[in-house]
Amino acid sequence: MNTTAHHDLDIDYVRSCFPCFSEPLASKTAFFENAGGTYVVGPVLDRLFKFYQSNKVQPYYPSDIAHAAGEQMDAGRKAMDDLFGMPEGTITLGPSTTQNINTLALACTAIVDSKSEIIVTEQDHEANIGAWERLCQRTGAKLRLWEVDEVTGELELAKLESMLNSSVKIVCMTHSSNIIGSINPIEEVIELCRSNGTRVLIDGVSFVPHQWPNLSIFQPDAYCFSTYKTYATHLGVMYTARDFAEELDPQCHYFNTEYPEKRFDGAGPDHAAIAALAGLAEYFEQSHLHHFGTGRLSLKKKAIQLSGLMHKHESNLCEVLLEGITDLPLRIIGRDSMKWREANISLISEKHSPQQLCESLARNNIAAGYGNFYAIRLLNKLGLMEKEEGVLRISFAHYNTREEVMRVVTALQDLH
Ligand SMILES: Cc1ncc(COP(=O)(O)O)c(C=O)c1O
Repeated sequence: MNTTAHHDLDIDYVRSCFPCFSEPLASKTAFFENAGGTYVVGPVLDRLFKFYQSNKVQPYYPSDIAHAAGEQMDAGRKAMDDLFGMPEGTITLGPSTTQNINTLALACTAIVDSKSEIIVTEQDHEANIGAWERLCQRTGAKLRLWEVDEVTGELELAKLESMLNSSVKIVCMTHSSNIIGSINPIEEVIELCRSNGTRVLIDGVSFVPHQWPNLSIFQPDAYCFSTYKTYATHLGVMYTARDFAEELDPQCHYFNTEYPEKRFDGAGPDHAAIAALAGLAEYFEQSHLHHFGTGRLSLKKKAIQLSGLMHKHESNLCEVLLEGITDLPLRIIGRDSMKWREANISLISEKHSPQQLCESLARNNIAAGYGNFYAIRLLNKLGLMEKEEGVLRISFAHYNTREEVMRVVTALQDLH
């Protein structure tokens, strides 16, 4: 046991927790497509495999095997409750964030009618726009677009302020953009909306992999993210504040409405994937112990403290990338420093298309992504969809190394 506090992330320790780094493909690849889904940490894999191997039965019946399956699923659910530290029954586990937001939008039929308005942002992933657009089409409510600045892609708070009125029932916005990487001032947005009697849903899919959120400080009405981007199984996690949930139409079987964690579970996701989430809690617990030594903090506080180290590590690496490409004929979409930014960089080149860049990086065993990343409205506004090509995206996770970033910098320099 290490009882000496580390002030920096111990990258060798971190990588030792991810079994894929001893696999041939992952060990030769510098992986920078983390915003599309991260590698999976060992304790999650162990639990996933154990469930499928030993307990793949209908859970919660009296047999030992069904009892064990139920216990593992309960541990997975408890892990998410503890990691967020929010009241029991406020977390819904669904197959994805797209599905969870769709379900929430359906549930909001209870509070939306033809006189209502819903605000979505032009910066969001389509998952947090389309569901609300469809709700408006069904109910006759008015969908209003909080537009981004056409040069920077940023959202200005003053614009939202001018859009709010007593008909605005819900504002839906992303915590940080999956394209421009900017972190939005959600505390101010929530405060502003609360004073207007408006509910706020935050899409944290792009944010949570970089910084574990403290929901009791932000106090959103709903908050979503996806665990396949936080080193775990393919699920969507949705927090819904109790008083908000109680206003909405349940989307589960009628006989399950009394179970708060089932109210917005319209799908019944993979049992093994739920059980495996306990491995995420184990990773945060063990990694916190390694970095900070023993302590009496709650799991939520440990996750937040640890993710501070992860964020610092990723931000330092991202600075190396930003500095290394300053003089190249590349346009960074969004801010060119790490202030109010996540380690998620979109680029376009004067010399090569995003696809060509991505393919060239792949030849150097660097995995990146290119395209629109389902944020088509934002890319359209920024004029980046003219040839339907979008951007090259280089997105970091805390297990990336300086050597990997230097490989990206060198490859981009060679290409220009
Ligand atoms: C910012 C953002 N929101 C929502 C989603 C949708 O998440 P899911 O794939 O879990 O439906 C994504 C997926 O990439 C995303 O990047």
